[in-house]
Amino acid sequence: LREHEEFTKVKNIATIELGRYEIETWYFSPFPPEYNDSLKLYFCEFCLNFMKRKEQLQRHMRKCDLKHPPGDEIYRSGTLSMFEVDGKKNKVYGQNLCYLAKLFLDHKTLYYDVDLFLFYVLCECDDRGCHMVGYFSKVTSSAFLLLDAVEEKHSEESYNLACILTLPPYQRKGYGKFLIAFSYELSKKEGKVGTPERPLSDLGLLSYRGYWTRVLLDILKKHKGNISIKELSDMTAIKAEDILTTLQSLELIQYRKGQHVICADPKVLDRHLKAAGRGGLEVDVSKLIWTPYK
Ligand code: ACO
Ligand code: ZN
Repeated sequence: LREHEEFTKVKNIATIELGRYEIETWYFSPFPPEYNDSLKLYFCEFCLNFMKRKEQLQRHMRKCDLKHPPGDEIYRSGTLSMFEVDGKKNKVYGQNLCYLAKLFLDHKTLYYDVDLFLFYVLCECDDRGCHMVGYFSKVTSSAFLLLDAVEEKHSEESYNLACILTLPPYQRKGYGKFLIAFSYELSKKEGKVGTPERPLSDLGLLSYRGYWTRVLLDILKKHKGNISIKELSDMTAIKAEDILTTLQSLELIQYRKGQHVICADPKVLDRHLKAAGRGGLEVDVSKLIWTPYK
């Protein structure tokens, strides 16, 4: 999957330093012009301000008083914490995060209007502070209303995630599925179904497929008797279309008398469950302290 880079526009920044990691970048990111002659940028891992020289970062670290993302800690379980950062209240942080994320996201146009977004930043915490692992962003519901008015249509589709990123040093450890699971837990609390904004990257699609497959197979495995796609959607907050395509790809759907019917043969389920891989890190819902925005 490293052939990403072949599709890349001319990359400006080749590496970044972030906390204890030096990370090779994947894609072009539109940093302000004065940074364009730099091959390497130095990020403060807490406020995400970026600098061209190591000495600047060292000087910054002596006076930066953040030890975690700005905003509210809405989840803590063991050493994992999730912070909710409102782009309206933390514009500079939101912009810095977008610059950073774009280095690893190809498909997304970068929104500078961070006002419209909430950022959910996942951290591993220790005695030195809370170190960012990844994040996802989500358009606020009031922003959806605004967009509806502008575009004269209803985005009641409820996108529950705009962009998702696990920083490369943390990838393939289950954090991506944790972030995805978290986005659906928020949707459940809002009493809505959700779906990620399209297009998905290849890695994004793999991760979503993996998540949807695992969640649906687990339910079908435990459930006795018939179950409809609508019921699955109500239980999981996964949008009906996403459930249908997932079950179709697992060949668990038959079309009978003009209707999609789930045919979950236990043997077939077991075979799929074995192939479905690890479940990722669990979200412990009892540790999520959050009420939907009004
Ligand atoms: N090669 C093959 N499969 C992979 C790879 C890889 N390099 N990385 C992830 N996967 C698949 C696997 O099926 C994996 O499950 P498994 O490990 O049980 O087999 C599954 O994706 C998820 O793995 P996680 O460890 O839970 O996910 P991770 O923490 O690596 O994060 C993510 C996934 C967020 C997509 C990450 O790869 C990333 O940040 N990529 C760059 C940015 C990006 O493409 N984001 C999605 C854009 S679409 C959107 O934002 C709406
Ligand atoms: Zn800082």
